[in-house]
Amino acid sequence: MCGIVGYIGNENACDIIIDGLKKLEYRGYDSAGIALYKEGKIQVRKYKGRIANLEEHLKNEVFDSHVGIGHTRWATHGAPSDENAHPHTNGDSTIAIVHNGIIENFVKLREWLETEHQVTFRSETDSEVIAHLIGLYYEGDLLEAVYKATEKMEGAYAIGAIAAAEPDRIVAVRKDSPLVVGLGEDCNFIASDIPALLKHVRKIYLIENNETVLLTKDQVKIFDQNRKEVKREVFHVTWDADAAEKEGYDHFMLKEIHEQPKGIYETLTRRLDESGKIALDGISLSKEDLDRIDKVYIVACGTAYHAGLVGKYAIEKFAHIPVEVDIASEFRYRDPFVNDRTLFIAVSQSGETLDTLAALREAKKKGARILSVVNVVGSSVARESDDVFYTWAGPEIAVASTKAYTTQLVCMYLIALYMAQLKGVIAQEEYRRILEELKAVPDKLREFLKKEKSIEELAKKQYKRESAFFIGRGADVGISYEGSLKLKEVSYINSFAIAAGELKHGTIALIEQDTLVVALATQDQLYDKMLSNIQEVKARGAYVIGIAKASNREIEKQANDVIYIPDCADEVAPLLAVVPLQLLAYYIAKLRGCDIDKPKNLAKSVTVE
Ligand code: M6R
Repeated sequence: MCGIVGYIGNENACDIIIDGLKKLEYRGYDSAGIALYKEGKIQVRKYKGRIANLEEHLKNEVFDSHVGIGHTRWATHGAPSDENAHPHTNGDSTIAIVHNGIIENFVKLREWLETEHQVTFRSETDSEVIAHLIGLYYEGDLLEAVYKATEKMEGAYAIGAIAAAEPDRIVAVRKDSPLVVGLGEDCNFIASDIPALLKHVRKIYLIENNETVLLTKDQVKIFDQNRKEVKREVFHVTWDADAAEKEGYDHFMLKEIHEQPKGIYETLTRRLDESGKIALDGISLSKEDLDRIDKVYIVACGTAYHAGLVGKYAIEKFAHIPVEVDIASEFRYRDPFVNDRTLFIAVSQSGETLDTLAALREAKKKGARILSVVNVVGSSVARESDDVFYTWAGPEIAVASTKAYTTQLVCMYLIALYMAQLKGVIAQEEYRRILEELKAVPDKLREFLKKEKSIEELAKKQYKRESAFFIGRGADVGISYEGSLKLKEVSYINSFAIAAGELKHGTIALIEQDTLVVALATQDQLYDKMLSNIQEVKARGAYVIGIAKASNREIEKQANDVIYIPDCADEVAPLLAVVPLQLLAYYIAKLRGCDIDKPKNLAKSVTVE
């Protein structure tokens, strides 16, 4: 949820850390702070608000420091405030830490530190206990003190720590919260995510759970749980630093919407062999494995869950295997019927969403085979899965997920078709037809995006709305949920999605004169039914924006406005239909003056329960 950056080297640590934090601001942005070693002391500056506010405070100070740690926060324990911002220090400020995650036993630890060790706390955070614990155990060796402190801690953490008495080292530790180390020339870095480091390094160590890292400017040592040094292969980042920049777009969200044709193309073509067939290299799902599987669970959160809804539709249709789609936070607490005949598909852009990770572990314990669909290479979900199907969306920075979603859909189709073929339940013509349809999507989308202006015009008519409804049938139901989520998270309009056929069972009571209804009618076989649903809401006075395929013009008679997507097979229509909804949400939010890339109360990756 939050962002961590640490630097040790010869350059100005303050500038490097602030710059790195800016790349992570999408992960949390309600307060920011920095701790720097300077002349035998640790200097801490931390403030409520964005990194720009921290910079403003720092602008008249000169920190000639070569070692430091910084943090951008998304509040969990304790409201956003200067006191609750990281870094936190021990009583005499000789130790400073930054922390991502949650210390679950912090109340007990806090009481213990207060009563047994007369510690005075300055914040309401769980993280502050870490600084005091390290301070308590510190006897001139930061690494040793961090080991001892972590033995006391329960929960999830990525921690960076510095000590005033050891200006030549940073110690970092990871359990269930992402942590990477960047390897530079005469300098080294820690960060919670790779984009923070790309300006400086391409060589990365991905730190595993329960590993502790000791960094000096010339050396990085990684130790396992038993304090044994471990060797780690260098991970070379191949994607461009520009991928994490806006490149002339006003917002990352808009840039990422426009990157969808490329993301879809990459995700698709990297999984097709020379004969044009799906080749899931590195995924060891054999026909025998599949014959044993009698049920698929797709488990995820938010937008990734919506991708799962389309996945269910595709797997059941093509591969004839029953699929249940579950919200990760529900799955783990309801004793689901999972065993060694279950294929569990975890879907996650970040691969760090705690609920998804916990659900995965639950399913694994029960014997399920784990396949994950993940965007971030080396993330926790990827590492804990039996097989990983990477999306090739590139780094997604905007909090509102767009290109991750469409690439997740591509994975869903490929998994469904692959399983169908392995099981021998799909005719060759059908298999080829769907693949051809998928291959045509990137170009169709590029053409569609040229007409973006018309959606901006539509947004101008709608941006003052207080509420909106999204309706659809079949595969359009999942798209309705996703369109509705996009609108509410970036524009704060109270929006609601429902299967169109379900409207009349209650929700239609809310439709009145001029209520905005976005009606998805991209499924040919359900088109007439959708037209009836549109009539139903029109009869109650609704203002309807229809989404339909270019050849299906009948809808013009019913809807007030229509957005036409390129003609395509019903099966792949979700890939095209979601894009106008993303654009509508974007332009409405822009007209409302919302902070589109960093919506209030949200963070990019939710690594807490
Ligand atoms: O990183 P993940 O895909 O696991 O994240 C899941 C959700 O938190 C995420 O999709 C969220 O709903 C987005 N803000 C939606 O735009």
